[in-house]
Amino acid sequence: MTGRLSAGSLVAFLSLHAIVSKDIYDLTKKVVPALISSAGGLQRIEEITREPVEVSEAARPRPVPPGPLAFRLDNVTYSYPGGKPVLKGVTLDIPAGRRVALVGGSGSGKSTIVGLLLRFFDPQEGRVLVNGLDVRNVSRDSLYCRVAVVFQESFMFDGTVRENIALGKPGASDAEIQAAARAAELHDAILALPQGYDTAVGEQGGMLSGGQRQRLAIARAILRNPEALLLDEATSALDPATESAVNATLSRLAVGRTVVSVTHRLASACDADLLVVLDQGRVVETGGHAELLARGGGYAALWAKQSGVEVRGEAAAARGDALAVRVRPHHLRLVPLLAGVEEVALADVAARMVVENWDAGRAVVREGEVGDRFFVIARGRVEVTLHVGGTVQHVAVLDDGDFFGEQALLAGARRTATVRTLTPCLLMVLERAAFEEVVRAYPALQAAVARAAERRQAMAADVLAALDETTLLEG
Ligand SMILES: Nc1ncnc2c1ncn2[C@@H]1O[C@H](COP(=O)(O)OP(=O)(O)OP(=O)(O)O)[C@@H](O)[C@H]1O
Ligand SMILES: [Mg+2]
Repeated sequence: MTGRLSAGSLVAFLSLHAIVSKDIYDLTKKVVPALISSAGGLQRIEEITREPVEVSEAARPRPVPPGPLAFRLDNVTYSYPGGKPVLKGVTLDIPAGRRVALVGGSGSGKSTIVGLLLRFFDPQEGRVLVNGLDVRNVSRDSLYCRVAVVFQESFMFDGTVRENIALGKPGASDAEIQAAARAAELHDAILALPQGYDTAVGEQGGMLSGGQRQRLAIARAILRNPEALLLDEATSALDPATESAVNATLSRLAVGRTVVSVTHRLASACDADLLVVLDQGRVVETGGHAELLARGGGYAALWAKQSGVEVRGEAAAARGDALAVRVRPHHLRLVPLLAGVEEVALADVAARMVVENWDAGRAVVREGEVGDRFFVIARGRVEVTLHVGGTVQHVAVLDDGDFFGEQALLAGARRTATVRTLTPCLLMVLERAAFEEVVRAYPALQAAVARAAERRQAMAADVLAALDETTLLEG
């Protein structure tokens, strides 16, 4: 209008303006936010890389001596920093090419042994040997390239299925990744995903089922074709059907490798070449399944407890089909209230129990509530906690074959503790109303119930009042 700008300059200005403003837009909307979030990520990565190494490598580490992998714990005593010894004088041979199962109650030291074999920490006394050489002198790389681990919970990165498997062996080819997925019996399931191997698994593997996540972890482990496979409760968080399927896969993959498997479920350990029973940090029994049963010790007792509930047709049990899970009548004799009761009455009680599926992390009974249900654990783990002087105290972990809440079979009983599921659980439940029907039919049972009710009232008066924190914990 004023003649200071030619039409040509205006057009040039406008096209330049479009380009520059697009770049400024990209810079502020895309580049800067990406930079900021990467800086945050990088900071966290730096924090991790700056973490001091707890056990440092020997000045002149040696490679693992050649030959098939064998481990030995030689009179090992270990305590976590500032704690009491959790392994006490443990001597244990893990021969090459054999399958050794570590079994025992919660806190008996099984995972600690796995940690020692991988040299996550060093024992205060004794030695851990790999092919005869103290792991303290072994180079970490030479050990880790021959060993793979699968834990109960496997970490999934927010990437694709392919990337998550490839973590086991950076730089693995597609063919290797697929072979590992096939070996873990995951290949077909991956192909069924929207983008196959390129499907994003989502935050913490949310796109995959629990069984698929564990199979992915197995594929990741097997990708390195490890000579030794360490499995720490690798299948125990899975439902029964998936658990037995994944266990079958693991058994196939175990052939020709040294396997150390940790499990509290004896049914998935009993075919091991060697069973090692741990109790409070000590090896209490070792041998084969039949041998240990014949010995009639702790293993036999644990086996009897775990076979107290029969899970027939695992697939049906996973659906929660009541017919598939059955408490064996004689198992109920372990419940103090039912100890002296005749077999027919117990069979009647067992027949009235129904199965329930519980997710992990839920309170089954709460301290102080009036209860009317008694539980037997068919599968899974629960934690028992109690309020003592304002704090929550851990009392026990119960698992397959254990029972709780029997006081609720007596009218008006309040729960004395909180029981929360640690893993998905299959629980057999007896309602008091159903129990009372049985009680009416059997005079002997009626008398037992009356006696128990009297005892409980006497207990409530004097024993409970006298219990202090220490006796509760020790009890
Ligand atoms: N990081 C740790 N710091 C301190 N104490 C620990 C640590 N990990 C385990 N413990 C303790 O060491 C003992 C043995 O634990 P460990 O994990 O080896 O038992 P576990 O047999 O694997 O039990 P679970 O069957 O419950 O997994 C327990 O008393 C436990 O509380
Ligand atoms: Mg453990």
